[in-house]
Amino acid sequence: DQTILQDRFNRTISYLRLSITDRCDLRCTYCMPERMQFLPKSDVLSFEELTRLVDAFIARGITKLRVTGGEPLVRKDAIRLLSKFAERLGSGLEELTLTTNATQLEANAQALADMGIKRINISLDSLDRNVYERLSRRDALPQVLRGIDAAAKSGLKVKINTVALADANADEIPSMISWAHKNGFDLSLIEVMPLGEEMTHRSSSFLSLQEVKSQLNKHWTLTELEDSTGGPARYMRVEETGGRVGFISPLSHNFCATCNRIRMTCTGRLYTCLGHEEGEDLRAALRDDQTDETMNRLLNRALRNKPERHDFDEAKIDTPSSPRTMSVTGG
Ligand code: GTP
Ligand code: 5AD
Ligand code: SF4
Repeated sequence: DQTILQDRFNRTISYLRLSITDRCDLRCTYCMPERMQFLPKSDVLSFEELTRLVDAFIARGITKLRVTGGEPLVRKDAIRLLSKFAERLGSGLEELTLTTNATQLEANAQALADMGIKRINISLDSLDRNVYERLSRRDALPQVLRGIDAAAKSGLKVKINTVALADANADEIPSMISWAHKNGFDLSLIEVMPLGEEMTHRSSSFLSLQEVKSQLNKHWTLTELEDSTGGPARYMRVEETGGRVGFISPLSHNFCATCNRIRMTCTGRLYTCLGHEEGEDLRAALRDDQTDETMNRLLNRALRNKPERHDFDEAKIDTPSSPRTMSVTGG
């Protein structure tokens, strides 16, 4: 079939993660350096280019679009861009969502809910203002909490994403889960991945989620759930709180066999796997004013080259698997 995006391993790709900016107002130590060199504006796709590409993907069977960054809401007029994407809801697009650090949510949550976004994922690694500041190099926790509050009040379903870090928030994980569940949020834990040259001493931060799970099992009764958002998280129910905890364990538990996603950077590079360098330059095709046919050929070639899985390896956590940081790829 020419229309559906399918790879060599018979995985159907229906989920596009789209980064709309490499910029961020935080500087999380595992993600980027303090003096991050951001891309010049002319490299970044315009609203028109992004919309044209999104339409091309929807025509090829993408039904779920997650907008990421950097921090998506620091892009100028992000709400206007998201509204354009939201116009596709119901005609091909089934879900529009975003992953955000929540710093800009206080002012924007209502607009997101109004355009038809149902749920958002919010990155939050600590509820301790000092730890948050050490990790993100910005004293932004109060603003972030106001953003989360605004999201909940506007009716958005919130999921918290927490990177589990042995040397930062390990002790806090149970209290963060309690806090999230009390507020009606799911919380997903994430193993730190060896992306970007920035933090080459990840072994002191890496925390295996298999280990975290056994710790949590001592506090609480956890039961395995079959629920899935089609994403990499495996969910468990905490009987005592009634809430769910997701485990995203690329290192200790590979989930690539059911991969359903591709990702595009804000410069129009299409990556078919978070941990690999293979990609296609869709911007060049767009700016050379190529036809839809050329674009579709590029998409087909990208899909043919989608790797079976990443090759992150716990034993090699200190060696970057990819020089691209998450802020470039969009997570
Ligand atoms: P849901 O739609 O809620 O399932 O979200 P999601 O897990 O697909 O997206 P989210 O942006 O919340 O991602 C959470 C974390 O999982 C981020 O750190 C991502 O980088 C990571 N992640 C998402 N997809 C992949 C993937 O395909 N491979 C790997 N290794 N990590 C991923
Ligand atoms: N490893 C794991 N997660 C990361 N994130 C950013 N960089 C990394 C990394 N190297 C997380 C952010 C956010 C999500 C999109 O990706 O904290 O929750
Ligand atoms: Fe898919 Fe690559 Fe992520 Fe595995 S690491 S789930 S193959 S994108």
